Amino acid sequence: MKQQLFYHRRPLFGLDIGSQTVKFVQLENHAHKAVIKAYGSMATDDEIMKNGVITNISKAAELVDKLLSENIKGKITTNRVVMSVPVSRAYTRVVDLPLMSKKELESAVKLEIEQSIPVPTKNLYYDYEVMQAVDNDNLLVRMVATQKEIVDSYVAVCDLLGLDLALVQTNIRADAQLCIMYENMIKGSPYVIVDVGGDSIDIGILDETLRVTGTVDEGGNSLTDAIARVLHITHDKAHKIKITKGIAAGAQQAKIKSAVDPILDKVVVEIQRMIKFYEERVHEGAEVSQILIVGGGANMPGLGDYLTNATHIATRVSSPWGKYLEFGHIEPPENADLPRFLTCIGLALAKDEDIAGL
Ligand SMILES: Nc1ncnc2c1ncn2[C@@H]1O[C@H](COP(=O)(O)OP(=O)(O)OP(=O)(O)O)[C@@H](O)[C@H]1O
Ligand SMILES: [Mg+2]
Repeated sequence: MKQQLFYHRRPLFGLDIGSQTVKFVQLENHAHKAVIKAYGSMATDDEIMKNGVITNISKAAELVDKLLSENIKGKITTNRVVMSVPVSRAYTRVVDLPLMSKKELESAVKLEIEQSIPVPTKNLYYDYEVMQAVDNDNLLVRMVATQKEIVDSYVAVCDLLGLDLALVQTNIRADAQLCIMYENMIKGSPYVIVDVGGDSIDIGILDETLRVTGTVDEGGNSLTDAIARVLHITHDKAHKIKITKGIAAGAQQAKIKSAVDPILDKVVVEIQRMIKFYEERVHEGAEVSQILIVGGGANMPGLGDYLTNATHIATRVSSPWGKYLEFGHIEPPENADLPRFLTCIGLALAKDEDIAGL
């Protein structure tokens, strides 16, 4: 019999049905580098989803089918998929528990979920991860739950398309995976990730793993609306100004800044709240070293400087391209569109042990 000497990962691709765009990426993993084998994105049809649940299964399947067949660069070679659920649709709890056996831990997690999540447990899928506590006498446990209705709707879309749904992760968990693998993180030096989507801005703090998550109920769209209001222009014109000038220096900078300030201030407040939690509960004395921005809205000019000034933490758009990720012989997207694909890449980097754990 032929012996298999090395364990080969079964290939999979990441699919992110966001509020604005649907995107996918398949990677070919090499030891320290991944090559994009296939990718694509297209606008989401707002009628397919409600409160995170895909309500029109056949229309969503049509959309994904169109994405994978017509809006694709490269070639997809697997039907195994990892999908994302928005942080705002997941319940995350981080609790301290005394040291206990795995069986006791499972009951404690179930109890915590029953008591702290305002949805009957029978309507939830949940999972947990044990982290090291600040002191060694306790366990710090991070639990994530999401409504079955959401995941079941994803399964229904995949079934229609003949796709095999291997795993569902929050978008920020996927972003974290990407950063951990491809952002030269320094040990003991936590990072903040900010995912600027259309409807929400999601935040995570990570070191060796994702520790804390949060979300702000504002996004690229509310930034555009705010700019449109203050300059008395249409949404389309405001969008153009947002992506070309943003809040970087320019004739209308002060006006635009005053419009987006209340939104970005919410992000700053949430980042500071999460850092305080992290420094008090997860890793005393650790100092956050960087903020990385991902998501379609990452490239708004001036956003990085705004966050740097407000938090005094160096901020930049995550850019693992070149050194860790390349497009090989596939035509790459425009530079401004690159950050939109980062969540999908994180999904495509899911580890077998994460999948096995479900
Ligand atoms: N070059 C750019 N500069 C700034 N913002 C941009 C740029 N391109 C797209 N955007 C903004 O990015 C947002 C969409 O980002 P993305 O595609 O990541 O959202 P999504 O994942 O569908 O949304 P969500 O995560 O909220 O479900 C829109 O608000 C859009 O205006
Ligand atoms: Mg998104």
